[in-house]
Amino acid sequence: MKPTVLQLSPILIPSVSQKLNELYEVHKYFEIDDKEAFLAKHAADVHGVVSGGHTGISKALMERLPNLKVVAVNGVGTDAVDMAYAKSRGIHVTATFGALTEDVADLAIGLLLTSCRGICAGDRFVREGNWVKFPSPTAIPLSRRFSGMRVGIVGMGRVGRAVAIRAAAFGCPIQYTDLKKMDDLSYGFVPDLIELAHQSDALILCAAADKAEGIVNAKVLDALGKDGFLINIARGKLVNEVDLVEAVKAGKIAGAGLDVFVDEPNVPEALLQNDSVVMQAHRASATWETRTAMGNMVLDSLAQALSGKRPEMSLTT
Ligand code: DGY
Repeated sequence: MKPTVLQLSPILIPSVSQKLNELYEVHKYFEIDDKEAFLAKHAADVHGVVSGGHTGISKALMERLPNLKVVAVNGVGTDAVDMAYAKSRGIHVTATFGALTEDVADLAIGLLLTSCRGICAGDRFVREGNWVKFPSPTAIPLSRRFSGMRVGIVGMGRVGRAVAIRAAAFGCPIQYTDLKKMDDLSYGFVPDLIELAHQSDALILCAAADKAEGIVNAKVLDALGKDGFLINIARGKLVNEVDLVEAVKAGKIAGAGLDVFVDEPNVPEALLQNDSVVMQAHRASATWETRTAMGNMVLDSLAQALSGKRPEMSLTT
């Protein structure tokens, strides 16, 4: 008999879904209408869960699955999983570390270039026929140069380091903040986030969200200043979104490039209305290459855990 796996969110790579279905009895939880009836019948059979990164799994659902051995997170962020609870039950929680670093860093630079050069606003200007109507070069504002910008990186983990390498190639001086200085890095370490914002033209958020909610607040945005750009490819909740809306509306910062939001998929109206903000629908890892690699890591973690081994990517056991 095949072990039972509960899949909490869609997997977009056909070869990964196919393999998952070949090896396991898979229930797509997100397609089940009567979840109570499903749990009453199948909860005890579930040995593995596949969850999304930022969507995770609720503690309440873990509590309903008495024989759960592994939560294989299809992502790197584990802030949406109660790790202490999983640990207390000996449930392996795994993540896809390393698989998405390059794509997420690429999108961070893409968002910064797009926002400081006004690429989306320029695209809309041409697409909506405004170039023909208003051919004067004064019809569209000048943008800002990316090359050489002072870049401040918040969180110097895998993604932060990959962003730094890319920004350095554009001639950007780089500084960072983190819980501590990293001895293997020659970039400037600025322990205080307000000070880092003050010394940066672009602040790029690459930190994990655990214990860092709302660290980018009005004071940080004020320090970034009216010529500064905020880029977030990490978690929406790192930013106090009320303060961000206020800063964008009042022109207290020059612009923002955001892949993540506090209450996805809901985005504050004021951000939608503002041309200085460039947005994506939380898709920094959404390439065929990365999602295939992530899916394969999920399959490996499930296989290891469900054959009684400690998964290589386990964070809780
Ligand atoms: C992650 O890997 O945590 C991404 O945000 C996708 O959920």
